[in-house]
Amino acid sequence: AEKQRLRIAVLGTGYLGATHAACMAELGFEVLGLDTDKSKIDSLSSGRVPFYEPGLEEVLTRNLAAGRLRFTTDYAEAAAFADVHFICVGTPQQATSNAADLRYVDAAVESLAPLLTRPAVVIGKSTVPVGTAARIAAQFHALSPAGEAVEVGWSPEFLRESHGVEDTLNPNRIVVGTDSPRVEQVMREISASQIERGIPFLVTDLQTAELVKVSANAFLATKISFINAMAEVCEAVGADVIQLAEALSHDDRIGGKFLGPGLGFGGGCLPKDIRAFMARADELGVEPALSFLREVDAINQRRRARTIDIARGLIGGSFAGRTVGVLGAAFKPNSDDIRDSPALDVAATIGSLGARVTVYDPEALENAKRAYPQLNFAHTMVEAVRDAEVVLLLTEWAEFRDADPDELGKVVAEKRIVDGRNALDPDHWRSRGWTYRALGRP
Ligand code: UGA
Repeated sequence: AEKQRLRIAVLGTGYLGATHAACMAELGFEVLGLDTDKSKIDSLSSGRVPFYEPGLEEVLTRNLAAGRLRFTTDYAEAAAFADVHFICVGTPQQATSNAADLRYVDAAVESLAPLLTRPAVVIGKSTVPVGTAARIAAQFHALSPAGEAVEVGWSPEFLRESHGVEDTLNPNRIVVGTDSPRVEQVMREISASQIERGIPFLVTDLQTAELVKVSANAFLATKISFINAMAEVCEAVGADVIQLAEALSHDDRIGGKFLGPGLGFGGGCLPKDIRAFMARADELGVEPALSFLREVDAINQRRRARTIDIARGLIGGSFAGRTVGVLGAAFKPNSDDIRDSPALDVAATIGSLGARVTVYDPEALENAKRAYPQLNFAHTMVEAVRDAEVVLLLTEWAEFRDADPDELGKVVAEKRIVDGRNALDPDHWRSRGWTYRALGRP
């Protein structure tokens, strides 16, 4: 008899879950995506991705059409259908502390566990404080009718938003935390085509797998803050951090990636992950081990303040009554995600200091409008900078990198630009009559 292929449920269909569900179907598995938000499920079921993620809609529609991919809001359906359940719900920062808010993880476990009447494997992918996986395993054993036949593993997700499809189909490594041979076997089966292509498959205990994820993000955040700290020093002596970073990058022990100086990191992951990691270290009694991350966070926040100071300096020391154009709202290009967006944080602060701020972003305008109703929004780059006394480039979309200084020069009140992402060629803009300022450069 032909071997029955594994059936997969994906719990949570946000940036991570929707991408994971579509990509698991792309690998040939039968997949059921679940979310408690009916509007998300309706949208995905009809082939529309409810956020901006390049390439995902094609994978979604192809696999819906092939009949390998469906979506539901019904946990009973997921429990009856799947052999393997992936937990892909969000773990945001708590409103009142640095710790992770586990309410969505807990809700998923409490909804699914009582419905598991036969052996099943549950794989967590959400980023959680170390120790959570073991607690969840105990919860399934206690709450599920199948008891210990529900086995839990943790396989952290390393995808970058805007590269989600590619990173899920071709991850640079697969990490599986488990002490169960069956969980390992199931993950090997799911990852077979990737293992065949030579992608490293690492098996660890649960705690180590949870830590791989947060330590990877802590390292990336540290690398960004390192180069931004060097930018601060460069500013003090008139040195050029772009030249500095390039020279460092040729030492392949250092490497050039994540060494891009500018406004710093934002998004739904790096900022909250380093804070949750510090909070967890505190609980574990190893707070000093991660106290450097407080500095990483502080350096990152100082870049926002510095960007505002440079702009204020260019217009004579006060924002009151001034007109400011902002290019960029998303936390990074090719995304519509505005969670902890440095661009919007800077724009809102300048607005609160009395300026009339108009923001343009190619994809994140709708999200930005909802979250920052006090700002003004324009539907083109030219409209955002019309009559501006200073322009700030805060997210390095290709459209802004390729902007024509002469075209923008015709509509601004004053040709002054703060390049918060070191995205433009200073010589070119200066030669077109602009006062150009950037972070970490003379
Ligand atoms: C990040 C990690 O890169 C992923 O590996 C991880 O899976 C993900 O978090 C997660 O935990 O889910 P992501 O938040 O999508 O991915 O975005 P990144 O591409 O890492 O960028 C993060 C921030 O750093 C952005 O605001 C970006 O502008 C900034 N950045 C990045 C810099 O300021 N300089 C750089 O050189 C690189």
